[in-house]
Amino acid sequence: MAQYARGSAVAVIRLRNPPVNALSRAVLQALEDGLKKADADPSVKAVMICGENGKFSAGADIRGFSAPKRLGGALGPVVSLIESSEKPVVAAIEGVALGGGLEVALGCHYRIAHVKARMGLPEVTLGLLPGAEGTQRLPRLIGVPAALDMITTGKHIPATEALKLGLVDEIVEENTIEAAIRLANKVIGQPLGPRRLSLKPVPKVPNMEAFLDEALAKVKRQARGCLAPELCFQAVRAATQSPFADGVRRERELFQVLLSSGQAQALQYAFFAERAVRRWATPGGASWSSAAPQPVRRAAVIGLGTMGRGIVTSLVKANIPLVALEQDLENLNKGRKAVMFLLEREAMKMEGGAQVLDFHNPARLQFTVDFDLLRDVDLVIEAVFENMALKKEIFHKLSKICKPGALLCTNTSALNIDEIASATNRPQQVIGTHFFSPAHVMRLLEIIYGRHTSPTAIATAMQLATALKKVGVVVGNCFGFVGNRMMFPYVQQAVFLLEEGSRPDAVDQALEDFGFKIGPFRMSDLAGLDVGWRSRKDQGLTGPSLPAGTPARQRRGQRYSPLPDLLCEHGRFGQKTGKGWYLYEKAGGRTATPDPWLLNFLSQYRDTHGIQTRFIDQEEILERCLFSLINEGFAILAEGIASGPEHLDVIYINGYGWPKHRGGPMFYASTVGLPRVLAKLQKYSEAHPDVPGLQPSAFLKKLAAVGNPPLKEWMSYLSQQSSKL
Ligand code: 3HC
Ligand code: NAI
Repeated sequence: MAQYARGSAVAVIRLRNPPVNALSRAVLQALEDGLKKADADPSVKAVMICGENGKFSAGADIRGFSAPKRLGGALGPVVSLIESSEKPVVAAIEGVALGGGLEVALGCHYRIAHVKARMGLPEVTLGLLPGAEGTQRLPRLIGVPAALDMITTGKHIPATEALKLGLVDEIVEENTIEAAIRLANKVIGQPLGPRRLSLKPVPKVPNMEAFLDEALAKVKRQARGCLAPELCFQAVRAATQSPFADGVRRERELFQVLLSSGQAQALQYAFFAERAVRRWATPGGASWSSAAPQPVRRAAVIGLGTMGRGIVTSLVKANIPLVALEQDLENLNKGRKAVMFLLEREAMKMEGGAQVLDFHNPARLQFTVDFDLLRDVDLVIEAVFENMALKKEIFHKLSKICKPGALLCTNTSALNIDEIASATNRPQQVIGTHFFSPAHVMRLLEIIYGRHTSPTAIATAMQLATALKKVGVVVGNCFGFVGNRMMFPYVQQAVFLLEEGSRPDAVDQALEDFGFKIGPFRMSDLAGLDVGWRSRKDQGLTGPSLPAGTPARQRRGQRYSPLPDLLCEHGRFGQKTGKGWYLYEKAGGRTATPDPWLLNFLSQYRDTHGIQTRFIDQEEILERCLFSLINEGFAILAEGIASGPEHLDVIYINGYGWPKHRGGPMFYASTVGLPRVLAKLQKYSEAHPDVPGLQPSAFLKKLAAVGNPPLKEWMSYLSQQSSKL
């Protein structure tokens, strides 16, 4: 609702819809009523609009977009009504003014903001565009380049930047409401014409057309198949070409196109999924609502390799004092240099830089080879080599040295958390915190509880994720957990496709066209082929421990491709050696080009193994890679490793470069239709009966059989016994 009150000459309209004052139908109606009341009351000389509880408004109620009577289009006329008021209207912006919230403020004649407020038009991140005349008013106020940047990226800007851009008239350090009322009193009687943004011309940019062409090329490049950024661009371009009213008409048309697009639904699903995963639960009945985290005043990171460096950087950025430990001085010095390099780079991006991060202060970041310095830390993150014996040795040592309450976390990417915990005297405080590379950039933190992990440990790890500005997703313990377990069949299919006749660049292209940031072969070259090779050797799948006489393309009765092993045997580890699935300009190079050597190698390999080369089209590439990944997702859900499809989707969007506008793999499956996914898997598994990853999971079959229910109902079809959650 919006509350109307009148004190002296200024009427106050307070937007009220906790927690973020989203603009629902009821709020809009009350806002309109308030404006009309103020207009009709001769004793009212000015109006001030603010939000309840220190937040202006987070914009249109997103849930309203999927309601039977959609919300889209209802806000624009209210914004026009504000602007056309004959009495000055002042927006008092505290907390956030986002989306429709900022559009309301743009309809006001004056804007005053608290210094800590944030503003933005994030509709593009929900697959939409600012549909309440924001694409037409903002360029008139702050110019086309700045408006395009805000609208096509959806970024939130701080009040100080908003002031520089001219988005707000004034910022205050305290009492925004009083300052806004003062301003409202001051401007009573002043002409409103110059304050009405719809009447202002769009400021000229020299060579506007060339500027817009360049901007469009950039938007398209960055959108990678997502519709909204380009339509946002078109709406702003309309502001440069047409009078205000025509621009608004164009904005409405484009908004309707996006509103009914599958992409907007996927992105809105992703928005709520990210929030839903905060409400975690475990089989023992522990959950977010009853578990309390313990404070982390000091932390430690063990191992300063690829992952440890990023984890240290992330902790420093979150202001958590820490000790960074390596196995010897040589590795310590290497690690320290790398960490300092990362931190210097991060500091350059921040206001206040190195001083704010304070990483030269040993009280905040200490490097050591001495385990004794871990005595008083509250939390340790282990990031040493992926080797069970080594991890157990370290955890055993930690449980002897660390204080009793300390939480012991492992960054293992696949190993058994229970086995690691068994080396300690406190398995209830052992938990997996699986970061993604680069750890200071990637948003995902997969949090893995073991059989004995306590609710406090889970709550503390979730709190850590929030402190690091990451999305924590709580999952159960199995080989590869959720993310990597689903990745195995996907990568396996990609390699099988090469055996059968495809090429690395064809497979990568198909998946990148689908929207992945990077295809599986480019990814494997980036991460290093040796990582998987070592793991396969440890598992006895290749290398000296493989029993003599094992068929080249079969392991444990299943199809196996030795191609990645063969590449490693040829010293092709990927970017680090300058060659892998692709050729690079030099060792450490980043420009991948198809390698004639590899294509020749593949053709000889097929001859050796009597495989007939065939042409594999894009559809088969996509179906075999994606549906096998999704199939594993259904198995994971049925086993109770994750409590819902949203968890899998949030993991894939934030950790594996899955295109967000497709909502995550499970949401994507729901849009394809489960019967179709099932039929395709059945077809491929008949053609490849020795590939278990293609055999449809029982849960998928069940959901298809009960009539393809909507995703939010899936979990209700699992019997209590089969779910561990
Ligand atoms: N509509 C409906 N619910 C919303 C909402 C919105 N615009 N914004 C936030 N919420 C809900 C969240 O789902 C969450 O609900 P839950 O507690 O049930 O999970 C609750 O409000 C609190 O949100 P957060 O947990 O995200 O709180 P934070 O403090 O972390 O973040 C925020 C606050 C920055 C405002 C963040 O919620 C946000 O970015 N919201 C979306 C803003 C947005 O995209 N606005 C544009 C809407 S579209 C629009 O305005 C169209 C117009 O142009 C016509
Ligand atoms: P890495 O090989 O780059 O670094 C490991 C570091 O641990 C080395 O610097 C090494 O000197 C140090 N170390 C080894 N033994 C030690 C000991 N006893 N005490 C202190 N330090 C010791 O390995 P990376 O890639 O950083 O992986 C670390 C862990 O993170 C592994 O478990 C891996 O599976 C996991 N992981 C790796 C990802 C990646 O993309 N590289 C992604 C997610 C998880």
